[in-house]
Amino acid sequence: MDRHERELIEKLDKEKVLSEKEYEQLIVLRDDEAIKLLSELATKTRKAVFKDEIYTRGLIEISSICKNNCLYCGIRRDNTLAERYRLTKDEILSCAAEGYELGFRTFVLQGGEDPFFSDDVLCDIVTALKSQHPDCAVTLSMGEKSRESYKALYDAGADRYLLRHETADSEHYALLHPKEMSFKNRMRCLDDLKSIGYQVGCGFMVGSPYQTPKTLAKDLYFIQQFKPDMCGIGPFIPHHNTPFRDETQGSLELTLFLLSVIRLMLPEVLLPATTALGTIDPKGREKGIMAGANVVMPNLSPVAVRKKYELYDNKICTGDESAQCRDCLDKRMEMIGCRLAVDRGDAPRIRK
Ligand code: 5AD
Ligand code: FES
Repeated sequence: MDRHERELIEKLDKEKVLSEKEYEQLIVLRDDEAIKLLSELATKTRKAVFKDEIYTRGLIEISSICKNNCLYCGIRRDNTLAERYRLTKDEILSCAAEGYELGFRTFVLQGGEDPFFSDDVLCDIVTALKSQHPDCAVTLSMGEKSRESYKALYDAGADRYLLRHETADSEHYALLHPKEMSFKNRMRCLDDLKSIGYQVGCGFMVGSPYQTPKTLAKDLYFIQQFKPDMCGIGPFIPHHNTPFRDETQGSLELTLFLLSVIRLMLPEVLLPATTALGTIDPKGREKGIMAGANVVMPNLSPVAVRKKYELYDNKICTGDESAQCRDCLDKRMEMIGCRLAVDRGDAPRIRK
């Protein structure tokens, strides 16, 4: 590691703020020694804020139907080979009831932009979930909506919203999305979510096509400015029925490096070790935690539909043997000296 890289890491650790140019240098100059130093500092920071507790969210994939056509995504509209399903309200409530028994206190409803889930339909489900489990947080991850829709869902009881920004560079954004989608609207959504009062998650894929150290530096700078409560980052993994089928998968090493950088930048941020990370490496999620992540999101969807919610190839936890992801992750976390919390796992600013 050269002297400049060491200075950048020390500055990030102490001051929590770098310029866009400095983030770019931090990325370009990284070597094994820099990665190791960052991950040690990030783990120290994670432990100072969260001790050995790892927060969990039960992920319920409520619909594989999507009106959008994002170039990277396996459930894009033009993938006519994708198997489509949507869960009924009763199915969603029974996934949550099962999850509650297992110790989940946050449920994440995620799905494609499926017009069936109108505001009325979703609000009714959120209200029912909150009345059956008043001690739980409900997170939505259902894509772009109007401010009015976000507000209605918030008023119905939704606590949090995940909407990855995907890339903070508008030209890069245009290369990943069809013409009818815009970077500007994505940013509008994130601003609306924040000003309405949600705990908000943004994030991006590592190694998405056309990504460069410059676009990544913009992502880091955006995250520093936006200060999300959560930040979801995982490797890009090609899906065989998308225009990006022949692109290369994102790297494990770069994903871990970026997790460490984000932990140092925002010590209290909720940082999931994602399923995509677990897909590219059998110990990916454990490695993510050891690089600074502090959240895991085991799958609570009915096993019968899991394979159909296929955003990328070879997604883990889709077979019969993964019915109990929570137990699996309990053991995995114990192996690395951590434990799964039975807790809503709110952002620290909410708990204060
Ligand atoms: N590889 C990795 N992540 C993907 N996502 C969508 N498609 C892929 C893919 N091929 C991510 C996007 C989206 C989130 C729900 O899943 O970042 O926001
Ligand atoms: Fe799903 Fe291990 S977390 S089977």
